Amino acid sequence: MVKAIVWENGKVIMLDQSKLPFEVTFVECTDYMRVAEGIKKLWIRGAPAIGIAAAMGIALGAQDIKAKNFDEFMKALEPVFNEMLNTRPTAVNIKWAVERVTGFLIKRKDESVDRLKKLLIEEAKRILEEDIEVNKAIGKWGADFIKDGDTILTHCNAGALATGGYGTATAPMLVAKEQGKRIQVIADETRPVLQGARLTAWELMQEGIPVTLITDNTAGAVMKRGEIDLVIVGTDRTVRNGDVANKIGTYTLAVLCKEHKIPFYVAAPVSSIDFSISSGEDIPIEERGPEEVTHIYGRGGNVRIAPEGVKVKNISFDVTPHKYVTAIITEKGAFRPGDLKKLMKNNINLEKIRLKPQLL
Ligand code: MRU
Repeated sequence: MVKAIVWENGKVIMLDQSKLPFEVTFVECTDYMRVAEGIKKLWIRGAPAIGIAAAMGIALGAQDIKAKNFDEFMKALEPVFNEMLNTRPTAVNIKWAVERVTGFLIKRKDESVDRLKKLLIEEAKRILEEDIEVNKAIGKWGADFIKDGDTILTHCNAGALATGGYGTATAPMLVAKEQGKRIQVIADETRPVLQGARLTAWELMQEGIPVTLITDNTAGAVMKRGEIDLVIVGTDRTVRNGDVANKIGTYTLAVLCKEHKIPFYVAAPVSSIDFSISSGEDIPIEERGPEEVTHIYGRGGNVRIAPEGVKVKNISFDVTPHKYVTAIITEKGAFRPGDLKKLMKNNINLEKIRLKPQLL
C-alpha cells in the first residue's frame, strides 16, 4: 500500500502528492522548515497525514537544538511548534500533534536533552504506526454499514495518501472488499485541486476497487438516478456537536443525501475530533490562493482556464451541520453526531451508544 510519509535515516521522506498521478517523486526533508513547506504546498495533505508530518517535523527540528536543560529545550522548540501550527488552519491534527508531543515531553522532563531528542523521533514514528491501526479499526466498524453490491460515493481523498496508511473513508471500503463484498466507488473529482481525480481514483485502482470518476456537479444526478447507496467522506475537524469540516463540496453532498434519503457517513479518527469547540461555526476555514481556481492541472503543468484579473473565492473547506450526518465512524465505533460528546467521558459504556446498521 502507498505510503505518504516515512521517517528514514534521520530524514522525513514525503511522497510529493502535488505531482500525482503523473509522477511518483519523493521529497527528502532534513530540516523542519522543509516539512512545513511541504504541508503548505500540499506535497503532503489530508488531516491525519499532516498531523504525522507535524510530529516528524518537530522531531527533526529538535535534533538541531542546543540546550542545557529541559526548560531551554522547550523554549527552543517553540518556533518549531509555531511553524507547524501556522501551516494550515482547518485540520485539527496539527494542533493535536503539537499537544501530544508537548504532553509527551512534559511527562519526561527529567530525561537528558539528548535522550528527549531520541524519544521524540520514536514518538513521531509511533504516531504514524498508531494512525494505521486506528484506520483499520475505522474500517472494521465502517464495513458493517456496507452491503454486498453497494455503490459508495466519496469526496476528496481520505485514503492512504491522506493518512499514515489505509485511509479513513477508504478503510471501510478496503475491509468490505476483504470481506468479499462486491462494491464500487464513485469518486468526485474534487475541484479545485482534484484530489479525487488525481489521488482517490489512483489509489483505489491500485487496491483493485472498481472506481468511476465524476465531476463534482454530477453527484446530484447520480443520486437522483438511484445509483448511490451511501456516501463516506473524511474530515479535517469534527467538533463536539458533530458538525463536520471537510473539503469544500462536502456540505453540498450531505444536503443532497438528505433529499435522496442516502446515508451520509463521516470517517473520523478521534484525533480529528476537536472537543474544545462546541459548534462548527468556530472552525477556522482555510482560504487558498486564486491560482488553484483560475488554473487547472494538465499534464504539462497548470493550464489557465479563467481570464487574467478575475476575482476568485477559494474556500478550501466547508462545514456540514450535524443534522445531515447519519453517523461518525471512529476507531471506537460508529456514533450518532449527538452522541459524540459522550466520548469525552472516561467511564462511558461505548456499547450502549454505538450505532448499529440494524438501528438505521
Ligand atoms: O486540502 P486537503 O487535500 O488536505 O483536504 C483533505 C480533506 O479534506 C480530507 O477529506 C480530510 O483531510 C480527511 S483525510 C483522512
